[in-house]
Amino acid sequence: DPLPKLFQPLKIRGYTAKNRIWVSPMCMYSAKDGFSTNFHMSHYSQFAMRGAGLVMVEATGVLPEGRISPNCLGLWKDEHIDGLREIVSHMHEYGTVVGIQLGHGGRKGSTIPLQLYGTRDSLRSTIEEGAWPDKVYGPSAIAYDESHYTPKEMSLEQIKIVQQAFVDAAVRADKAGFDVVELHSAHGYLLFEFLSPLSNKRTDDYGGSFENRTRMLIEVVRGVRQVLPENKPLFVRISSTDWVDGGWEIEDTIRLAKILANEGVDLFDCSSAGNDPRQEIPLAPGYQVQFATKVKNEVSGMLSGAVGLITNGKIASEVIESDKADAIFVAREFLRNPSFVLSSAHELGINIKWPNQYERGRLKTNLHH
Ligand code: FNR
Repeated sequence: DPLPKLFQPLKIRGYTAKNRIWVSPMCMYSAKDGFSTNFHMSHYSQFAMRGAGLVMVEATGVLPEGRISPNCLGLWKDEHIDGLREIVSHMHEYGTVVGIQLGHGGRKGSTIPLQLYGTRDSLRSTIEEGAWPDKVYGPSAIAYDESHYTPKEMSLEQIKIVQQAFVDAAVRADKAGFDVVELHSAHGYLLFEFLSPLSNKRTDDYGGSFENRTRMLIEVVRGVRQVLPENKPLFVRISSTDWVDGGWEIEDTIRLAKILANEGVDLFDCSSAGNDPRQEIPLAPGYQVQFATKVKNEVSGMLSGAVGLITNGKIASEVIESDKADAIFVAREFLRNPSFVLSSAHELGINIKWPNQYERGRLKTNLHH
């Protein structure tokens, strides 16, 4: 029997993921001045050891003020490269494709680590914790909510600086050995803030029409694609919809994906929400898969990834087998169960290779064939 498509390789440019189950980017709030730590080595390696086809390293700040919290990873200086290179090279020993998500927190930056949510009145980090209240900026001077710092409106000069910072960080990501770069244009962070009419009220070339609101991301894509080696894939994570009337809609996502397919973006990683507290999200298993399916079907030359509440092998396999997406990104289930790839194979009754050292732990019962 041929393996189900979920466990078949996917080649993008010069790199081949050995299966379609990928680790979604997750901030771990464990960096110091942007530097990776031993935690990151253990954390990311465990997924590589246990068979993930691709691991996307968490949102990494392209500037110090581009971090989400003071504890987020960074690639704004060359000194950050070496620590990441060690992690990537170790992960490569397990045959995993390794990506990094480059981001800028914009108006949602300078917040506390997720671990502290619920312990404070506000999500703002303090100066003692390393906050940058005076450097929180976005397309417009509108706060996400009263729990966040109010951003300053970016000048055209600042826009250029941030764009160059994405390009420089992509060069460093390449030097660190990452195979894939993903731009974080989702969840209400800077690049998405430009896309959505709810957060972008600019009246210059970077606001107003669809063409103007997408200019920031398109120019970043052009700059990054130019410095990224031809054989390395470029992904974009997008909030497919704001889930708010009058906001960014799936139709906008499709229109943008068509443009970016011609700019050398290989895959749209289709998430949603995060830019406006009025959002109403219809949470259910695989609730965002529909967006990946639309992108896959309507945008020629663009692959798509599905993410969100994909928590077992059955759902994962159904998404891929019925061509609803090219790959799945899994976040929280990998935190519960770093062996998600191996246990999904077991659940589906499929024999895949286990790490040699762990072979004696392979589950033997309940195999369908
Ligand atoms: C996330 N998520 C996320 N998304 C992203 O694009 N960049 C990031 O750095 C993070 N950070 C992050 C941290 C933690 C602890 C969680 C739980 C989530 C969102 C994540 O990648 C994913 O899109 C959602 O969690 C939905 O997928 P699951 O968890 O239902 O599989």
